Amino acid sequence: MNNKRCVCVGVSGGIAAYKALDIVSALSKKDIDVRVIMTESATKFVTPLPFQSLSKNMVVTDMFAEPKAFEIQHISLAKRADVFLVAPATANIIGKVANGIADDMLSTTIMATRAKIIFAPAMNTNMYENPIVQENIEKLKKLGCEFIEPASGVLACGDEGKGKLADVNTIIEKVLNALDNKDLPKDLLGKNVLISAGPTHSNIDPVRFITNKSTGKMGYEIAEEARDRGANVTLVSGPTKLNPPNGVKVIRVTTNEEMKNAILENYDNSDIVIKSAAVADYKIKNYSNEKIKKGDGDLVLTFVRDNDILQILGENKKHQILVGFAAESSNFIENAKKKIKNKNLDYIVVNDITSNDTGFASDDNKVTILSKDGEEFDLEKMSKRKVASKIFETILRKR
Ligand code: CTP
Repeated sequence: MNNKRCVCVGVSGGIAAYKALDIVSALSKKDIDVRVIMTESATKFVTPLPFQSLSKNMVVTDMFAEPKAFEIQHISLAKRADVFLVAPATANIIGKVANGIADDMLSTTIMATRAKIIFAPAMNTNMYENPIVQENIEKLKKLGCEFIEPASGVLACGDEGKGKLADVNTIIEKVLNALDNKDLPKDLLGKNVLISAGPTHSNIDPVRFITNKSTGKMGYEIAEEARDRGANVTLVSGPTKLNPPNGVKVIRVTTNEEMKNAILENYDNSDIVIKSAAVADYKIKNYSNEKIKKGDGDLVLTFVRDNDILQILGENKKHQILVGFAAESSNFIENAKKKIKNKNLDYIVVNDITSNDTGFASDDNKVTILSKDGEEFDLEKMSKRKVASKIFETILRKR
């Protein structure tokens, strides 16, 4: 019996089928049992042989081929899969799965699996943007499937726009995360978790604002981690380019005031509140309704203090576990300890924003978690998703 974790990779018929070779190769090198199913049209773009060589498993294409052992192959593969990836996913396979059609090896196996299903679509822009395809994608997302958005660029057909298979490394990372999440404890089941993420804008006039370097990635990863541990998650997000995570209630805001209102509306009902947003401390004193015209001299703007949202949450804390973040460029621990006390927090996650390969806009983070009781957990550099996991491990430890 093979005890390795298993990823089923469904390859459907698009020019990006050759990129699935890199995915299969990378996953196989991570000691994962990779089983490839190709649609008949996929075999017109790439033959099964390289997939076979890279995965060291027979590639399945035909429902009615003579089996190598007696087993009903689409059912045994469906059961064996821990994660099911469809890459590239054409409009056709997305449409079939969304509408319950199971008429070949790939679609029947997907229909029979209980594994997490991830689609990485790739197709012509007009096809991708077609409302029928979008409706099918929305339907599948609601049913718990994950979609890795295609990238934009010049497509094989010469058109320019959205539709290129997402970056292969992003796809691999999503699959590895899904494998890890499968084993996650459901220790937040029934809990309401409120998270804030991203920057806020301080508006100057109708066309100008100041903001900061936050991309929202840390908060979005925390939201996904909480969701995968079983929580009901509300994510209050400042302006970011990130896709809203599936299965999470997202409230989009722009300014400090809007973020404050959205958070306070959800505060009483929350069990855990994590404030990873980089909120602007100042807003412009005199917002101009008209676009400010240039003059001959210097432009002097005056900013006044805005809400400290976390401070307000601390002052009104009842049953909630309140977790803050601290972005520091010096005296990290000392400053963070002050923030725990002043803002009445239970925990604070401190990051050093001076490092180039962690913090803002990076996929990794290096943090220290401090508790109000004086405990200090100094973590290694790790992915933001792992940091999210450590935050929940730490705060759920004693409960
Ligand atoms: N925070 C907030 N409202 C603000 C500023 C910060 O809710 N106006 C929250 C952040 O979301 C974070 C924590 O407070 O969880 C600490 O943010 P940080 O920017 O590190 O600290 P500040 O409190 O703004 O203090 P300073 O800028 O002086 O370091």
